[in-house]
Amino acid sequence: MTGYNNLHRFALFTACATFLLIIAGGLVTSTQSGLSVPDWPNTYGHFMFAYPLDQMVGGIFFEHSHRMIASVVGLLTVLLALWLWRREERPWVRNLGFAAVGIVMLQGLLGGLTVLFLLPTAISVSHATLAQTFFAIVVALALFTSPWWRGELPRLIERDRSISVTRLCMIATGAVYLQLILGALMRHLSAGLAVPDVPLAYGQIFPSLSPDALSGYNHELIVRDLRLSADDPVTAGQIVAHLAHRYWALATSGLIVWTAVRLIGLREASPRFRTIGVVLLALVALQITLGVMTVVTQKAVDLTTAHVATGALILALCVLATLHTVRLYGLQRSAPSVAFTPRGAAAA
Ligand code: HEM
Ligand code: HEM
Repeated sequence: MTGYNNLHRFALFTACATFLLIIAGGLVTSTQSGLSVPDWPNTYGHFMFAYPLDQMVGGIFFEHSHRMIASVVGLLTVLLALWLWRREERPWVRNLGFAAVGIVMLQGLLGGLTVLFLLPTAISVSHATLAQTFFAIVVALALFTSPWWRGELPRLIERDRSISVTRLCMIATGAVYLQLILGALMRHLSAGLAVPDVPLAYGQIFPSLSPDALSGYNHELIVRDLRLSADDPVTAGQIVAHLAHRYWALATSGLIVWTAVRLIGLREASPRFRTIGVVLLALVALQITLGVMTVVTQKAVDLTTAHVATGALILALCVLATLHTVRLYGLQRSAPSVAFTPRGAAAA
């Protein structure tokens, strides 16, 4: 059992390393260092691990260190899968370990391809989205190998509700996932500053996208020193991409708050629900603040990267919330009749 607990600790460590990798990747995009190293898998013709440290300056520092951290995470993932293969009895957990290896390899390939093809939007967006998916999978592996998940737990039945807590958590997770894709699309379509004011957009809720309105917006951006006249003009597509992320943030945040409040209400079933609910509320407040600050500070590198990283944390926490509800309540709808939560059956 001690050996298995070490396996769980190793899964946790891999999840933490992946979180660092997401920050490192976010820094590559935020500092626009994606093409600072033009070749792949080599770095300026050197075998990656033999690249001279004193040449890791400027954008090369961000891009090359991102590749190095990614290699470490790739290695950790392979070790985790092998360890699971040796020690894990549940076939589906072993398979998930191997799936994680497949995903991290695909992710590395997308990273390399985005460099070789000069950062095409589709590949960069896929790389950004798969990064968050991979993080959520490693976090789930850490949960599946935890003593809590493997221990004896009561099967609870939730009080009659129009929507079960499990389903609510799933919907919130789906909404966050869509929000991440919209964020990645906006980021890689260079639409992060396509709307310079917040909460309104060019002083309106739904700004006009007529050619006259667009040329007015572009004129305003140049007069306010937010863009140079030599820059490409902001297009209707960029404004739509930007606003899709902003408006979907409202729906997503509403769903997260609803889910968090519902989880906190289930604290007697498991104190874990309270913790997850409270942290979700804190993270969503932080994320909206960081999103607004990203626009207001015209994409300050630290705040923008923190916004990407907090997005990954919110996704992972929503996945954790869903898995906790599945573990304790199963996939069934809420009970059709009287409330029933076994007393004294609280799961730690
Ligand atoms: C294997 C695990 C990897 C993970 C989890 C990962 C994660 C990330 C993340 C989260 C971003 C930021 C995306 C964004 O902010 O929109 C990023 C950007 C980037 N990554 Fe990776 N990455 C990995 C491997 C690699 C590899 C092997 C390369 C090889 C070249 C690479 C090259 C890049 C580049 C060039 C960018 C910037 C893309 C752009 O600005 O359009 N990544 N990565
Ligand atoms: C629940 C709420 C939100 C979540 C989960 C979220 C998540 C994200 C994520 C993950 C990204 C980066 C995607 C990637 O490339 O990997 C992103 C980008 C961005 N988000 Fe959000 N976001 C939220 C709310 C907001 C709000 C309210 C605003 C502003 C009013 C905002 C403004 C931005 C901007 C401007 C970017 C692009 C930054 C750039 O171009 O570099 N976000 N968001």
